[in-house]
Amino acid sequence: MAEPESAARRPASEQAAGHGELIIPDGGFWPAPQVPQPNIYPMEWRVETEKLAAIYQKSKVMAWNPADLPWDGLRAEDFSTEQRLGIMYWFSVLANFDASGPAVFARATIHAFEQHEEDPVRKCFFSITRDEMNHEECCQRSIAALWPGGPLDWTPSTDLERAAHNNIGWLYHNGGRYWSGYNKAVGKYSLAVLFTSFMMGEMAASTLFRGMASGTTHPVFSEMFHKIGRDESRHLQICMTILENEWPGLTDDVKATITRQLRAGFIFLSMILWEPPDGFWDLPPYFLPNHRVLMSHARQAGLGVLSYQEQAENWKTAIAKIRVIVQRWGIEFPAIPELDIEGVDVSADINPEDIIPVF
Ligand SMILES: [Fe+2]
Ligand SMILES: [Fe+2]
Repeated sequence: MAEPESAARRPASEQAAGHGELIIPDGGFWPAPQVPQPNIYPMEWRVETEKLAAIYQKSKVMAWNPADLPWDGLRAEDFSTEQRLGIMYWFSVLANFDASGPAVFARATIHAFEQHEEDPVRKCFFSITRDEMNHEECCQRSIAALWPGGPLDWTPSTDLERAAHNNIGWLYHNGGRYWSGYNKAVGKYSLAVLFTSFMMGEMAASTLFRGMASGTTHPVFSEMFHKIGRDESRHLQICMTILENEWPGLTDDVKATITRQLRAGFIFLSMILWEPPDGFWDLPPYFLPNHRVLMSHARQAGLGVLSYQEQAENWKTAIAKIRVIVQRWGIEFPAIPELDIEGVDVSADINPEDIIPVF
């Protein structure tokens, strides 16, 4: 057997020619340096929650392609200008949520790798990222078909168009504020806190698309909303499975943070589920009246936007489900007087940095 030293001294060309010989250093192998954490290395594929692994496999089988929706059936000439504008406006509002999904979950995926969450958690995050990219594509394609240049890259020429363009600008200004907050939240909060917000977003999304799927009169939107709704239900299932692992043994501190996050989620998501609550969204005073006019055009176009009252009922039902779930784990629910829901008053403790935007 050759001495390790002489093997090490052999020229590289000679070593490459054959298999060479194994080198066992005197005194044993040198331990590799510990990888400073957080870091995605060292690699491993730990599985603790089989149910999550199964959901991930199912997500691949259920995959669909937005490009395959019957887009030829979505024709600008079938709508009035106001209706086309209304639909574009609604998808621009939706995009504040659904089109942030890919970036939100891509970041969460990287975070899960860095925290060495078990493999199925990382894979499920990835699958949500994939799905949200499809949902974003639906916003993109719907807008491109009906209002080229939308959401913002077009020149309005009537008062209604100027109102829509301006409202969308204000909406994305707020989206930008929440994105800044989210970037900080990802590193700051535990999985339990992040996932309670995600869960609320998915509950909202599955509720929204179920309502829209039953309300729309257009075949393209019907197929789109059914498919998105099914994805959102799977996202909700992922969140619930993760939370069942995370919720037991929460400290009172974390529970209080979750209560605040639930109120923050209501504030954030109400923009698309219902109407934005007062005093938090940074909007000009004319935003809401104009928003209502634009939404009514989308509604008349057969998009499936529920009435104000139906939206309130729907949102209230979804929130009631969330309330039952979190209270089971001893987490107090925040007061949501806007929907006559009683609970802890946390309204004074919420700022933009608290909001974890999700959908
Ligand atoms: Fe989505
Ligand atoms: Fe989702």
